[in-house]
Amino acid sequence: MFKKITSFPDNFLWGGATAANQIEGAYLDDGKGLTTVDLLPTGPKRNDIAKGKLDSFNPIEGEFYPSHQAIDFYNRYKEDIALFAEMGFKCFRLSISWARIFPNGDDSEPNEAGLQFYDDVFDELLKYNIEPVVTICHFDIPVNLIKNYGDWKNRKMINLFERYSKTLFNRYKNKVKYWMTFNEINMLLHLPYTGAGIVFEEGENKDQVLYQAAHHELLASALAVKACHEIIPDAMIGCMLAAGCAYPYSSNPDDMLKVIEMERDSYFLIDVQSKGVYPGYAKRFFRENNIELQFEDGDLELLKQHTVDYIGFSYYASRCTSADPEVLKNFTDGNIFGSVVNPYLETSEWGWTIDPKGMRITCNQIYDRYGKPLFIVENGLGAKDKLLDDDTVEDDYRIDYLDRHFAEIAEAIQDGVDIIGYTSWGPIDLVSNGTGEMDKRYGYIYVDRNNDGSGTLRRIKKKSFYWYKNIIANNGQHYFSKS
Ligand code: BG6
Repeated sequence: MFKKITSFPDNFLWGGATAANQIEGAYLDDGKGLTTVDLLPTGPKRNDIAKGKLDSFNPIEGEFYPSHQAIDFYNRYKEDIALFAEMGFKCFRLSISWARIFPNGDDSEPNEAGLQFYDDVFDELLKYNIEPVVTICHFDIPVNLIKNYGDWKNRKMINLFERYSKTLFNRYKNKVKYWMTFNEINMLLHLPYTGAGIVFEEGENKDQVLYQAAHHELLASALAVKACHEIIPDAMIGCMLAAGCAYPYSSNPDDMLKVIEMERDSYFLIDVQSKGVYPGYAKRFFRENNIELQFEDGDLELLKQHTVDYIGFSYYASRCTSADPEVLKNFTDGNIFGSVVNPYLETSEWGWTIDPKGMRITCNQIYDRYGKPLFIVENGLGAKDKLLDDDTVEDDYRIDYLDRHFAEIAEAIQDGVDIIGYTSWGPIDLVSNGTGEMDKRYGYIYVDRNNDGSGTLRRIKKKSFYWYKNIIANNGQHYFSKS
């Protein structure tokens, strides 16, 4: 009666994922405005700016800004897309730079050159039958919106984002059928400037500011969902969560409660986007922390009526927590979200835990929670690669990482989880969001560019290029024959 599942779904969307600010470069070309990420340098200041602790409205002299040239996808997209097509990509996730379309965020007319660039990219993808998967906002926000509005602190942002989204839906309605509103919306609570362009002022109640900004983003997201459904009825629009299951350090119930709190911290915004209501635990948190959200009439109805169609998420690592202050001393914030070191797991060169089984657990948990299709839109291993003299890169460690994660995704599918696609992060090497480095490489395609911006930008296929091509060609079938 219950048929055995023997492969990834027929139309499974295999591909890769990127973000405008980490690949495009050409940061002021053809009318593009300056964005928040254009003001994130490499080096020690990056983290403080990303956390909203330092003002940065203009480039600081002597600092290096990696997004300004990135990997020059803006001028090389045809070559890059041809390589994705050679690997057999079914889809390609990219984001649109808000400041290419509305350079100041609040301009009266969109910038035609910016719109045309993405038209050209989509046409190139569709030429190879590669489905574009578009994130409307992946961290980069026009800087003018911080200067003149205080960014997502300000309710006016809602309509500016709605107008930007509608411009995209109307322009690309015949080309793009998969959309996402905000990349890793929960990042706002951890890296407020990166996530939502927030710079704190002296004496501000940080939690009040963050959750009010979150409310504005949630309303903007609901309005974008509404518009997408009206303008492109055959499209799907999702949210995007930085995911990763959490484990208790011990079987002490207090540790388990900490796990629930840690996970809710991530799920909170997605709970609203997916279920359309503020969860009870959030209301308690607001009450107990003197957070008074400013609501307007109609806000709650809007959230309720326009929930997302699918849950997009990134999974790189799991986390671990404890209620015991002694154990908490062993806390590391290697992967931004922070975790107690898990003695059962190894870590990457950047201190991110490697936990393939956590992928299966995370898929099951999210699906159990929302019952909506899942789209794994980021996953991968950031590692240092060595380009050998014969122009090869032997990245067996990356193949091993992906192989073990694919096996667990196959398990999750057999568990009954509805997964529509998988896009590994950075199929072509790109600028790291966390550190701004080039050395933290995720790609199947090597890009000759160094941390300081030197290099020819030449593209070179790694060993994993051929491996992933083969997985896609066989629709990962062998992962199912094992069980
Ligand atoms: C996610 C982001 O947080 O992780 C990406 O959506 C980012 O933008 C990716 O690049 C990997 O992080 P990092 O710091 O290795 O670039």
